[in-house]
Amino acid sequence: MKEKAKEIAERLLSSSKVHVVSHIDADGIASASIAYSALSRAGVDVSVQFVKQLEERILNSVKEAGHDMIWFTDLGSGQLRNLAGVRCVITDHHEPQGEATGPLDRGNILSYSNHGIMELNPHRYGIDGSKEISGAGVTYLVAREMGDNIDLSHLAIVGAVGDMQASADGRLVGSNREILAEGEEAGFVNTNIDAQLYGIESRPLSKVIEYASDPLIPGLSGDQTGSVDFLDDLGIPLKKDGGWRRWYQLEHPEKQKIISALADRILDAGYPASYASSLVGEVYTFPNEEPGTMLHEAKEFSTLLNSCGRYQKGKIGMAVCTGDRGEKLKEAYRLLKGHQKVLVDCMKIVESEGIEEKDFLQYFSGGHKIPETVLGTVAGMILGSGKADRSMPILGFAYTEDGEGMKVSSRATKTLVDSGLDLSEVMSKCSKELGGEGGGHAIAAGAFIPDDKKERFLQLAEDMIKSQLS
Ligand code: C5P
Ligand code: C5P
Ligand code: ZN
Repeated sequence: MKEKAKEIAERLLSSSKVHVVSHIDADGIASASIAYSALSRAGVDVSVQFVKQLEERILNSVKEAGHDMIWFTDLGSGQLRNLAGVRCVITDHHEPQGEATGPLDRGNILSYSNHGIMELNPHRYGIDGSKEISGAGVTYLVAREMGDNIDLSHLAIVGAVGDMQASADGRLVGSNREILAEGEEAGFVNTNIDAQLYGIESRPLSKVIEYASDPLIPGLSGDQTGSVDFLDDLGIPLKKDGGWRRWYQLEHPEKQKIISALADRILDAGYPASYASSLVGEVYTFPNEEPGTMLHEAKEFSTLLNSCGRYQKGKIGMAVCTGDRGEKLKEAYRLLKGHQKVLVDCMKIVESEGIEEKDFLQYFSGGHKIPETVLGTVAGMILGSGKADRSMPILGFAYTEDGEGMKVSSRATKTLVDSGLDLSEVMSKCSKELGGEGGGHAIAAGAFIPDDKKERFLQLAEDMIKSQLS
């Protein structure tokens, strides 16, 4: 990949102005930030645009804007066919559709790919882009050929963690590890073995336990007093000097005590040892950021970026990535707070409306009350909260904002996926049959369907899930 990264870097450096188009999620925002920094440091004029998807309408407007050179990050490989004639480079990790052999490939003169597309994508090198490198990682590989940009390595880690690439094994793998090693050696990233809990920097201790969802702690997750009592019983003081203690401030023996008590809970509830061992894994922190802030640790950093993305504020997230610690950071925190409130409200809506159970799936209906943009997150939280049956996948439905149909989001557990469940297939095939479209991952997928097809969709999904699991 290095050779291709070098060629792409040269092409970018020889441009006077580059327009970056990126995906509006944590990985996409980290990608655009890497691209922006590398270009502006090299004296190239940069403009940036974030999009939810590179659908035809958006792609046309990008084309019509007449940019000299476009850099697509964390997207683009799925749209090679529609990019004919566009002078662009792509750094993406999604499964490519079609070929891009670059402007110098004389063997392929008649193909669309010969119109000036240069693409760097791990799938072309036998590397699994869904697990081993993120869009930000691929973009970083080009940035490091553009100048001294190793300080951007931490953003590649944020992107990978934001795309859940460290969750399955409790550590980054593949190309991500090489980037990690480089960042670590240069002093921009630290790797620690620590609790795989969310909020270890910024949240009060009892909240970290209460909101634990991956793994879920039987009898504690979602239980505020239970979590406080649990820590009290272990003799862990919740406060120090009048302030709430955070996980990262604990002494090592205190951490060990809590983790083994959590593991006992998991084992006592009959879960396998592998489930308990997923309590511990690698945690990535950034020594140049202030400890106790969300920017100091990769999971929290990526969460902050995601909440910018969800509210169409990719540029706020990018400002934070590129160093703004003033107004834009405050705005990012405000977006996160607002997002958390939306999520709490949505959880209440699901609790009051209830979850319907079929034989092989369960579902809730958000109607017009749950915004489609958070439907997937809400479905994941319900499944993670212990409020739903973890032996079946969960589906959520809500009307789309444009009023033109219905959004479906689905989430499952790793155990279900290991037993053969593939929600990506369920979402894509069942929606297609009803005139919609869908896709995603085996464990998390979504679809759009006509709004009068919910019942029919549920039947189709139930049948397919049944056959996958049998
Ligand atoms: O929207 P949601 O969070 O449920 O999406 C889960 C996954 O499914 C994401 O990876 C998303 O890109 C994918 N998806 C898709 N096609 C859709 C909706 C979602 O590929 N129509
Ligand atoms: O956005 P897609 O674009 O890839 O959706 C990512 C969603 O899928 C996230 O909400 C994430 O929670 C979920 N996901 C997951 N486990 C994975 C991959 C994705 O939960 N291994
Ligand atoms: Zn990505």
